[in-house]
Amino acid sequence: MAQEGKAMLGPVNHIALAVPDLGEAVERYRGMLGASVSEPEALPEHGVRVAFVLLANTKVELLEPIGENSPIAAFLAKNPSGGMHHICYEVADIIAARDSLVAAGGRVLGDGRPKIGAHGKPVLFLHPKDFFGTLIELEQV
Ligand code: CO
Repeated sequence: MAQEGKAMLGPVNHIALAVPDLGEAVERYRGMLGASVSEPEALPEHGVRVAFVLLANTKVELLEPIGENSPIAAFLAKNPSGGMHHICYEVADIIAARDSLVAAGGRVLGDGRPKIGAHGKPVLFLHPKDFFGTLIELEQV
């Protein structure tokens, strides 16, 4: 039986993929995978244009950078053909989740205070080096 810690993580809210060309990515998901994909929208305050691949159990966000300060610009510079950028888990209480993580020795990016994310809900990002190279987003739902 799996060893479980204190229950913190809820469902996967989304998986975010950085892509160099959002229009091409949308067409590929629609055309080759038959996926239902939302129309792209710009979120300039978050430095991205985004479209959602809508799935039965979660969604995949296709992210294209906008501007020099985009949070995914550096990632795409290192991974020019794109790649998985982060996975987002839902939490019920983001402050409790942060405090528990920090008490266990984990690191939160930035100043440690939740910000309002691309979905209008409080989010935090956890240091990828603490999680085997994967950037984790926690979103309070
Ligand atoms: Co996200």
